[in-house]
Amino acid sequence: MCGIVGILGKSAVATQIVDALKRLEYRGYDSAGVATLEDGGRLERRRAEGKLGNLEVKLSEAPLSGAIGIGHTRWATHGRPNERNAHPHATEKLAVVHNGIIENFRELKEELQAEGVRFETETDTEIVAQLVTKEILKGKSPVEAVAGVLPRLRGAFALAFLFAGEEDQLIGARHGPPLAIGHGEGEMYLGSDAVALAPFTDEVTYLEDGDWAVLSRHGVQIRDLKGRPVERKPQRIPSGTFMAEKGNHRHFMAKEIYEQPEVVGRTLAHYVDFATGRVKLPATLPFDFKTLKRMSISACGTAYYAGLIAKYWFERLARLPVEIDVASEFRYREPPMDEGELALFVSQSGETADTLASLRYAKAQGQHILSVVNVQTSTMARESAAIAPTLAGTEVGVASTKAFTCQLTVLLCLAIAAGRARGTLSDKDEAELVDELIRLPGLMAEAFKVEPRIEALNRDLARATDVLYLGRGTSYPLALEGALKLKEISYIHAEGYAAGELKHGPIALIDEDLPVIVIAPHDHLLEKTVSNMQEVAARGGKIVLVTDARGAEEIGMDTLATIVMPTASPTVAPILYALPIQLIAYHTAVFMGKDVDQPRNLAKSVTVE
Ligand code: F6R
Repeated sequence: MCGIVGILGKSAVATQIVDALKRLEYRGYDSAGVATLEDGGRLERRRAEGKLGNLEVKLSEAPLSGAIGIGHTRWATHGRPNERNAHPHATEKLAVVHNGIIENFRELKEELQAEGVRFETETDTEIVAQLVTKEILKGKSPVEAVAGVLPRLRGAFALAFLFAGEEDQLIGARHGPPLAIGHGEGEMYLGSDAVALAPFTDEVTYLEDGDWAVLSRHGVQIRDLKGRPVERKPQRIPSGTFMAEKGNHRHFMAKEIYEQPEVVGRTLAHYVDFATGRVKLPATLPFDFKTLKRMSISACGTAYYAGLIAKYWFERLARLPVEIDVASEFRYREPPMDEGELALFVSQSGETADTLASLRYAKAQGQHILSVVNVQTSTMARESAAIAPTLAGTEVGVASTKAFTCQLTVLLCLAIAAGRARGTLSDKDEAELVDELIRLPGLMAEAFKVEPRIEALNRDLARATDVLYLGRGTSYPLALEGALKLKEISYIHAEGYAAGELKHGPIALIDEDLPVIVIAPHDHLLEKTVSNMQEVAARGGKIVLVTDARGAEEIGMDTLATIVMPTASPTVAPILYALPIQLIAYHTAVFMGKDVDQPRNLAKSVTVE
């Protein structure tokens, strides 16, 4: 989390830094700041609480004209999100921006305080500024000072330093979260990712974990953890890779919800041979599904729910046992893993700290690593033996939508491929499933017809203090996803439950004020879910039923609303039913006047644990 930028330019860089920060706002928007070197190498900074617009106002009132500078957009970890704690943090010698957490900051702070250093902020970052300053005051050069301090820092961090009087030098360091170097003509750049640097250059070098880099306008010297010079190859980023515009939509989230038929279609075209009706995996996998005894899946948040749906698919279609866990638990649980099995990771960003740590753990346990990622230049993509890309395009809305349905599409294709390899699916089974997949984008487009019905629920849902989501089978993870979507953008408390679990506790919550959203496509579990709905209705709960025409007819109950979806096969239904779930959250939050693209306290890329 947090976005960092550094520019060694030819003229004033503050505006460019803010432009780059705008592309990193998905990493946090609690505060923002810029520091530059003004005439004679004097450090100056402007900082503001809240989103980047506030910083722009400050810069227009008091412009900066330096041709070298660093900038930051913050997702608060240590210290309240106010201006005092906003980056860059500075001493008279340097300014620094930071993404991540310095875990041993308490002991370092106590050490510095004992020496008489006074701290202005509650952040862990200020410790870094003070430690490096201490070394410079002893007579060390900026490079020597940083080299001396980096090994003392524990945790996961990316840093960018600007030094008073050093008008041709920036230093960047990576220990965990990514950091990219951009190569320009007589200009150089640093950024949390290539997205930030896209307006300036398409030539980017990714630092490896433990690397740190000294940049001048004419090049970069990279050193590894031990201080040894290393070569890292620059890459060309294809133009247009990161383009994202809202188009005619009011919010990126709406645009991304509406893009789903297209991006799911595009992803399918990558995984399905339309002519033969067979799944074709885009990469040769470094393992054989046939010989696997089990597989594990880990991921976080929405990506985890995609993994949970995939567990049902892999187990049913390929009879392959799947263990699944949220990555933040998996990594510390240290589960025993038999060598040579498959560990699958799901991530939109490919940078989520817990998922990445789980990947590294599984690798050390001799697992084959396969990642389903959207950002193909991400750290997870680079550290996996094989990747299965989702072709969702850049997802800007903080709440994941199109990445989720593309993840599901890829995971279903992988499960079909596994079923074929293991002999649990016949030619005919595969052809039928592929046919259902091919029809999916069309069904998704048709599903938008339910939007007015969903919009009409705004008032009822916005009034609720709690909402319950219920589902069985693959609709259960969808219930979890629906509750997450509603929570994160409307701030209404919501819970997802397996419908059968209702009577084991949550039924106590049901009264006339509790909307209960039931996801129940017509499938072999429908009857069971209907019983659970009866239990809700008997206690006065207000039911919103999401089903298809056959389901609506069979259920035949009074509801607050019944959303009738196009008919899809039970296997692909979870991909289709993601749409109404997303639209319910979106319209409720918009009705309540919430910032759906940048909900409070959240960030798009979670690079701290
Ligand atoms: C929710 C959401 C998050 C992410 C989670 C994992 O809408 O977007 O729950 O799914 O932070 O992120 P990635 O997929 O980047 O690993």
